[in-house]
Amino acid sequence: MNAIAIDGPAASGKSTVGFTVGQRLGFVFFDTGVMYRAVAWAVLEHGIDRADGEAVGQLAEQLRIEVDAPASDLSDGRQATILVGHVDVTWAIRSPRVDSIVSVVAANARVRRELTRKQRGIGLAYGSGAAGKAGIVMVGRDVGTVLLPEAPLKIYLQAPLEERARRRFRELVERGREADYDRVLEDMRLRDRTDSHRALAPLRPAEDARQIQTYGVTVEEVVEQILALAAALLGVTPTSPEE
Ligand code: DC
Repeated sequence: MNAIAIDGPAASGKSTVGFTVGQRLGFVFFDTGVMYRAVAWAVLEHGIDRADGEAVGQLAEQLRIEVDAPASDLSDGRQATILVGHVDVTWAIRSPRVDSIVSVVAANARVRRELTRKQRGIGLAYGSGAAGKAGIVMVGRDVGTVLLPEAPLKIYLQAPLEERARRRFRELVERGREADYDRVLEDMRLRDRTDSHRALAPLRPAEDARQIQTYGVTVEEVVEQILALAAALLGVTPTSPEE
């Protein structure tokens, strides 16, 4: 199977690195976190209490979430277009409000059951060449441990909390949003704790995951490191960066 699993905490570099690795290999890139974010967005939109496990679970089971390749005329920096029903929530799911509840939503057993089933299906399909695709790069928290444990290459990205908070803060400012660094840092600390200590599929490296530190190295260096592992373990050859 041609699948690369990339896990790690918030803002460890998963999406930036995973997207580029996908492009260089002609693999589908799938950020599984967007689906948890879409459910969290809908929880806010419907005014549901995030602590009401029953209501949140039911909502997740009913929701139609679509993750599509962006239309070619869209150049706003999106890696994918996320639809909930017919609403384009691509940027709305990145708001600090969604950030602050998404971990609790992602710890809900029914939400996880529903999204795990869908995400594993997507991983297995593209990993074995569906739609003529060469493979899949899947990023998240439990790709190597739960979603696709059979992936031949598993990566776990790491970076110190303060560095990750700085990255998230910069992203928000660049998107023209109001942001407070201390708030971002505190939210991230909380999110790390919830993601790592939940009962179901907690964030942790798979036993056979390669751990890579993304602090103090460039995105290109991390990408090259993963491409070298992919060449060795999957036998795939990347295109050069300019292509
Ligand atoms: O990677 P992210 O910050 O967009 O993820 C949003 C939340 O979704 C995060 O708090 C953990 C959760 N998540 C998860 O539990 N399992 C995944 N495979 C991906 C994300």
